[in-house]
Amino acid sequence: MKIRKVVIPAAGLGTRFLPITKVIPKEMLPLLNKPAIQYIVEEAIDSKLDNFLVVISKGKEAIENYFNSSTYFDYLLKEKQQTHLLSGLSNIIKSAKFSYVEQKQQLGLGHAILMAKEYIKEDYFCVMLPDDIIVSDNPGINQLIEIATKTKSTVVAVQEIPLEFVSSYGIVSIKSKISDNIFQLNGLVEKPKKLAPSNLAIVGRYVISNKIFSSLEKISSTNLSELQLTDAISHMLQNGEPVIAVKIDGERYDVGTPQNWLRATIELDKKQKFNDNNLNYKITKSIEVPDYL
Ligand code: G1P
Repeated sequence: MKIRKVVIPAAGLGTRFLPITKVIPKEMLPLLNKPAIQYIVEEAIDSKLDNFLVVISKGKEAIENYFNSSTYFDYLLKEKQQTHLLSGLSNIIKSAKFSYVEQKQQLGLGHAILMAKEYIKEDYFCVMLPDDIIVSDNPGINQLIEIATKTKSTVVAVQEIPLEFVSSYGIVSIKSKISDNIFQLNGLVEKPKKLAPSNLAIVGRYVISNKIFSSLEKISSTNLSELQLTDAISHMLQNGEPVIAVKIDGERYDVGTPQNWLRATIELDKKQKFNDNNLNYKITKSIEVPDYL
């Protein structure tokens, strides 16, 4: 089985970043000089994924313009014979296909993924959340693809978190240990208020069976105000789809709030993982993380 498609949900209003997100999509906010979504796209391309479906909402046209090499800006660079300045991004655009679907109402992550139903014809596809940046030698999503391909299972990425933070994440319940880092699941619960089944939190990478769409449709009929992806994966699991959690290797940066976004920017700079061949920018000095962060 070959997994090539990835769905990137990017339709949220970005309320935690207002007022800037009134005109700039959260996914386009820069971490150093690249928008957050580009880190996700690069991780996917490094994992041989080449078909992107970005779930957007009105006002998010900047994302479409960014992954398009026929804009007026591209024309101007051509005129000036300076297209090499955008070669990094142009290579990304050339090596993949970008499609877009509009989510008209923001009714939760599960609802956003349901927008991809017509686009996914294959047995398995990836979901990557642009709020989670993962820096790793073996790209985060690739670690999941390797296991999904071998086991023909749905696979979610997890990381250990302190117990006091479980109510901010999807948390997995372990049925058995396959190895130190790989677990067979018997349940998943979204943001448990108390009594979490473990301290393994889902971080925004998934390889998912297309059976998810019927699970999403089933649970959406129970009239929940927000349709959760975690609940649909759990539903699929109760109906026979094996679900595996993998403790992924690498560092995860949450860029979902301004403070975390700043921390991620500083950390990415410190690590000098930033490799900008578009602007010939070279990092000369690392910034210290301030104590208050
Ligand atoms: C989403 C998922 C949650 C997951 C988290 C990871 O929550 O619903 O299961 O743990 O992403 O970032 P959100 O942070 O969008 O509320």
